[in-house]
Amino acid sequence: MGSDMSGKALSRVRPVVQESQGSPIRAMKKLMEERSDMVSLAMGEANFSAPPELIEAAVEAMRQGKNLYTSTNGIPAVREAVSSFAKREWDVDVDPEENVLMTVGGMEAIHLAFRILVEEGDEVLLPDPGWGMVRTVAERRRARCIYYPLARTDTWTYDVDAILERLTDRTKLLAVNSPSNPAGAIMTAEGWRRLTDAARAKGVFILSDEVYHNYVYEGEHASVLSHGELDNLIVINSFSKTFAVTGWRLGYVIAHPWLIQQMGVYKESISLCSFSIGQWALADFLPKSQGYLAWTRALCRENMHKMVAVLKDIPGVACPAPQGGFYVFLDTSALDPSAQSMTEYLLREGIAVVPGNFFGTQGEGCLRLGFAAPWDQLEPGLDRLREALTKKNT
Ligand SMILES: Cc1ncc(COP(=O)(O)O)c(C=O)c1O
Repeated sequence: MGSDMSGKALSRVRPVVQESQGSPIRAMKKLMEERSDMVSLAMGEANFSAPPELIEAAVEAMRQGKNLYTSTNGIPAVREAVSSFAKREWDVDVDPEENVLMTVGGMEAIHLAFRILVEEGDEVLLPDPGWGMVRTVAERRRARCIYYPLARTDTWTYDVDAILERLTDRTKLLAVNSPSNPAGAIMTAEGWRRLTDAARAKGVFILSDEVYHNYVYEGEHASVLSHGELDNLIVINSFSKTFAVTGWRLGYVIAHPWLIQQMGVYKESISLCSFSIGQWALADFLPKSQGYLAWTRALCRENMHKMVAVLKDIPGVACPAPQGGFYVFLDTSALDPSAQSMTEYLLREGIAVVPGNFFGTQGEGCLRLGFAAPWDQLEPGLDRLREALTKKNT
């Protein structure tokens, strides 16, 4: 089929997106599919097996014919399981009927939240470095994006003072992602206390993206839910990263009943409902998920320590150890100030990574490497990366 744009109908369409490509992560994935000799540290998902019991529950649900639409907000059983999970993990009371909306991954949840809360020109505070997709969603809503820097020492952290300096009466929404992609920064309970108080006083919404909640390497995950009142909080969560089921596209929002109602009605016109089989399977599996969660957390913690130890020994690179999440955000700026050209060099050497500039100005000169995979899958990429970076330094 031709790509000619001169047709009368096509000529009447105004482009909705200006950029010619999606995220570099998608581009890497495509490249991996095309080149079998490439090794990848670019993954944005867990490359270990999903819990067998979850899969069994899904197969059973399919056999039982639970293949039809569900209610838009999600089946009661899964919303109850989410509510019990929130109680078990974060000791918070969430009403399954009123406070929970099942979504097509965390991604739909983010879209819905921005659609309901953000109007053209509204000021939105975003982390730098931070996951580029949230910036894209904010820009598509024509929000005024203001970036707050994360701090970096031997690890990346949230600098609460830097956020508070930028939080004004003009701010409509503050986005926080803890543990964070790509830097592995964690918002502490004390940080949440200071932020929730300030945001509440100024009438600012906090969008807390907690999709990596299971991957915390010291202490426990601090959910914003344990520290604030629901009237200005929107918590985004997902099963994608926790149970290695990114393809299921199943996540959820916890928020005030009015926001849930607004988002639910809007969702109906986008996706009608979320993946039915996944909802049934998670209703069954969530209450018995502790063993799997502990296993993946321990695996990732061990991988993280091993990976950081290898990377720290490479001359010319700085490797802050992440506090959470499943990425290392490596600083190679002393070898090449441009993350893009470093990524292209590494591609020529047969390794795929994600260039840090996708995550904001502080990501320039950095590379994102994933470590949520069995170690024997990571090792060849790491070896190749070490050789390529050492060669670059000589
Ligand atoms: C910080 C963050 N939030 C949300 C998502 C969306 O995940 P999903 O839509 O698969 O739940 C991702 C995916 O990479 C992410 O990194």
